[in-house]
Amino acid sequence: MFYPEELIEEIRMKNDIVDVVSGYVKLQKKGSSHWGCCPFHNEKTPSFSVSGPKQMYHCFGCGVSGNVYTFVMKYENYTFPEAVKLLAGRAGVSLPEPEYSAEARQRADKRTRLLEVNKEAAKFFYYQLRTPHGEVGRSYLKKRELSEETMHRFGLGYAGKNGAQLVRYLRTKGFEDELIKEAGLANYSERSGLVSQFWNRVMFPIQDINHRVIGFGGRVMGNGEPKYLNSPETLVFDKRRNLYGLNFARTARSGNVILCEGYMDVIAMHQAGFTQAVASLGTAFTQEQANLLRRYTDNVLLAYDSDGAGIKAALRAIGILREANLTGKVISMKPYKDPDEFMKNLGREAFEERIAQAENSFFFEIRILEEQYDLKDPEQKTRFHRETARRLCGFQEEVERDNYLQAVAEKYFIGVENLRKLVLNYASSTGLARPIERPKTLVHQKSNPQENAKRAQRLLLTWITDMPNLYDKIKPYISAEDFTEELYRQVAERLFSDLEKGNYNPAGIISMFEDEEKQREAAELFHTSLPELTTVQEKEKAFRDILLAVKKNSYEYYTANLGADVNALKQAVEGKKALEGLAKTHISLE
Ligand code: UTP
Ligand code: MN
Repeated sequence: MFYPEELIEEIRMKNDIVDVVSGYVKLQKKGSSHWGCCPFHNEKTPSFSVSGPKQMYHCFGCGVSGNVYTFVMKYENYTFPEAVKLLAGRAGVSLPEPEYSAEARQRADKRTRLLEVNKEAAKFFYYQLRTPHGEVGRSYLKKRELSEETMHRFGLGYAGKNGAQLVRYLRTKGFEDELIKEAGLANYSERSGLVSQFWNRVMFPIQDINHRVIGFGGRVMGNGEPKYLNSPETLVFDKRRNLYGLNFARTARSGNVILCEGYMDVIAMHQAGFTQAVASLGTAFTQEQANLLRRYTDNVLLAYDSDGAGIKAALRAIGILREANLTGKVISMKPYKDPDEFMKNLGREAFEERIAQAENSFFFEIRILEEQYDLKDPEQKTRFHRETARRLCGFQEEVERDNYLQAVAEKYFIGVENLRKLVLNYASSTGLARPIERPKTLVHQKSNPQENAKRAQRLLLTWITDMPNLYDKIKPYISAEDFTEELYRQVAERLFSDLEKGNYNPAGIISMFEDEEKQREAAELFHTSLPELTTVQEKEKAFRDILLAVKKNSYEYYTANLGADVNALKQAVEGKKALEGLAKTHISLE
C-alpha cells in the first residue's frame, strides 16, 4: 500500500460518496439510493445508483461500480494515490509521505522506471520526427494524410538510422542499460553493444488508459518486413489487456466503440472525428480486451478489413464479444480495404451511414456461412440449413432464439416450421439448447466451466454483501479458501474477517488493492446482478445452487491439486464433509 490502510479508510469515511458524486453528477434520492445519469457512458435515463449505506456506486447500464476512490480515479482519470490526495484535501486530512513494503516498493519502482524510460523514449522519437533527419518520417506520414495535429495528438515519432543514438540519449537521462533492455527498447549484441530495437521506422507510442506510454509499434516506411515491429511484453506492456486509442476513446461518450484492426485505422478514424475507435495491439482481439471495453460500452462496432483475413478475424472477435455479453455489429468497408482507406476515399459522412447500416453479428456470421455453400445444390442447401440450425442453438434464451430463427428463415427463404424442427432436432440430440423449460438456476448460464465457477463465486459474494446476516448461517460450510480465484479469495478473506468482527464494510475492501484493475474487479464482486426471483422458495433454491456450485468447484479444485498444494488434502476432506452437510441442510433466507 502507498499509505497506511487505516488512513485510507479514514479518508474514505470522511468523504461521503453521495456528497462527492453529487459534485459531478446530478443525483436524486429514491429509496435508500441516489440516482443519476451515468457519467461513464452515454445515457438519457438514470441507471447510475449511489448507495449511502454501502458507500458504493453501481451503474445498471454499463456495469461500473466502486467506492469513492474508484469514482474519483475514473472520473478524473487519476491514479489511486492521486485520488487519495484529492479526497484527503477535501476532508482536511493531512497525508504523510507514502509508505511502501519492500516488495511493493520494488515492483512499483520497476513499473515507474519502465514507464519513465518509455516516456523518455517517446519524447526522443517525437523530437527526431521533427528534426531534418526525421523528414523521411514526416513526409511518409503526410503522404498518409495525417495532419500535424493528429501526429501531435498520437505522439507519433521517428526512430532514426543510428541505433546507438536512442541508447546514448537514455543513458544521459540516467537510465541503466538493464532497464532499457527490459523495456524492450534496445537489444544487446556482441558486435555493436546495446542498440535500439527500432530502426528507421515511424513510431506509434502505445498508451494505456491513463495516457502513459507502455510500448511502441514501429512501421517501415514503404515495403519491408515486418511491416510493424512492436515492443515485446514487459511488466507494463500487457498486449492482452490494453487497446490502442482507448485513452481517448474512453471519454468519447458516443454510445459505442469502434474496434479496428490497425493503428493507422484508429488514427484515421480519430482524425475524422470518430474518437471512439480502438484497435488491439498487433495480436488478435482477446477476452480481456472485451472485458475492458465493457467498462465503457455494451455496443461494439467492428470495422475490420474487408479481405478474407479480416472476415476471419471479425468472426473470431464476434465470438469473444458474445462471450463477454457485448452486442457486436459489423461495419462494411467495401469496396475499400480498411477504415483508413475508406475514410480517405469516402469520408466521414459516408462512414456515419455505414455505422447506421452496421450488420447484426449473427446475420453477418450466417451470411459468411452461406457463401460457402452452393444453394442450388439441394444437398449443400440442406447442409447450410442444418448448420444454421446448429448456430441458432447457441442462443440460450428461447425468445431470442426464436426471433433470430424467424428472421433468418425469412432472409434465406427457409420455411420457418422446417427450420424450427431442425433446431429442435439438433437441440435434443445434443442437449445443447433445451427447448423444454430449463430449471431456474443461475449457475449454469455459461457453457465454460471455469467461467461458471467464477460466476458462482461472484454471485455468492454479492449475495452475502447484500444480506450480511447470511454469513452466520453459511459459516459452517464455507471459508475464504473456497474461492479459487485469487482475487476473490482475498476479498472473501477480508469480508469474512470483517463480518466476524461485526465490522461490515465492503467499500473499504476495494481499497485493499493498489492496482486499478483489481479495484474494479473487487468492486464488481459486490454488484453481480442477482436473480430477479419473487418467491422465497425460488430465492432459497438459487442461493443453495450457488453455494453448492462454489463448494463443488472448490472440492474439485483441491482434489485436482492433491500433491501439488500442501493445503489441498485438508481442503478436499473438509470440502467433502461440507458438501455432505449441505445436502442435508436447509438454509433459510429469512
Ligand atoms: P495491417 O496489415 O492491416 O496494417 O495490420 P494497417 O494497420 O492497415 O497498416 P497500414 O495501413 O498498412 O500502415 C493491422 C495491425 O496488425 C498489426 C499492427 O498492429 C497493425 O496495425 N501488425 C501488422 C503487426 O503487428 N505486425 C505486422 O507486421 C503487421
Ligand atoms: Mn491500412
